[in-house]
Amino acid sequence: MIKFTVTSTKGGVGKTTLTANLGALLADLGLRVLLVDADVQPSLSKYFPLCSPAPAGLTRAVVGGEVTADCIAHTVVDGLDIVVSDDPQGQLPPWLLQRIDRGFRLRFALQSCAVRERYDCVLIDTQGSIGPLQDAAVLAADILVSPITPEILSAREFRDGTMELLERLEPSSALGATLGPLKAVIYRQDRTIDARSIASGIREDFIRLKGRVSVLDTVVPYAKAYKEAATLRVPVHRHEPAREGPMPSASMVMHRLAWELIPSLMGLEVDGQGRRP
Ligand SMILES: Nc1ncnc2c1ncn2[C@@H]1O[C@H](COP(=O)(O)OP(=O)(O)OP(=O)(O)O)[C@@H](O)[C@H]1O
Ligand SMILES: [Mg+2]
Repeated sequence: MIKFTVTSTKGGVGKTTLTANLGALLADLGLRVLLVDADVQPSLSKYFPLCSPAPAGLTRAVVGGEVTADCIAHTVVDGLDIVVSDDPQGQLPPWLLQRIDRGFRLRFALQSCAVRERYDCVLIDTQGSIGPLQDAAVLAADILVSPITPEILSAREFRDGTMELLERLEPSSALGATLGPLKAVIYRQDRTIDARSIASGIREDFIRLKGRVSVLDTVVPYAKAYKEAATLRVPVHRHEPAREGPMPSASMVMHRLAWELIPSLMGLEVDGQGRRP
């Protein structure tokens, strides 16, 4: 089982869109995928319709220290399940703050049998601000994925936020939780911005972290297909399996991203119905 946490110290960069679409594609590719909505604003929880809601969600899992079957809802995408965010009053972060094990609570909960034995991949979405729930989600991951949006977030701002996050959580490794490598994805890039110069700026800025941060080759462009698919509540690879013109389709972009993050999937594809040819 591999666990990814999609994180950024900035809000609105595309975390939820990326988590939902990557999760749905991985499920269509045949993986058993569990999404975890670790944002008190439950956008991921509402992204895809549920065919079988659960009586509980993230609060029960974190407070109880275990993800039991009744915390897991099933989405209409086959093979894609979710632990929903069920904390409209935002009580979970202050509860966590009082706990000495706050950083590890989610990590331990995800070691439950109901997760380990049933899923190949866990994808955790986080809130776009610093807090104990974001820290717990970061410490639960094997790999961190961080969208960086060139229009609103320069490489330098990204570096400062990420450095602060890594430096704050680095001491946790003394307690047995090593921070996963962070993979930046240049995200929502428009045609006026040169991805290569942004990518090399980020790489240079992070040289002193000795490879802890890398920039993925796959760039996710700004495209209306992502918004349209979100409105229709369908995975973007099914919504835009192909397109005219020089830009790759959303399906192709998401496939490349999945292959880059999980190289053993390289070459596996699904069509617009989510079926493998
Ligand atoms: N590749 C894309 N091209 C164009 N628009 C996009 C793309 N990806 C996401 N968006 C849009 O950008 C907006 C923000 O995306 P999203 O909600 O995923 O960000 P977020 O990082 O999860 O935000 P928050 O920090 O509030 O949780 C949404 O309106 C979404 O539809
Ligand atoms: Mg979000």
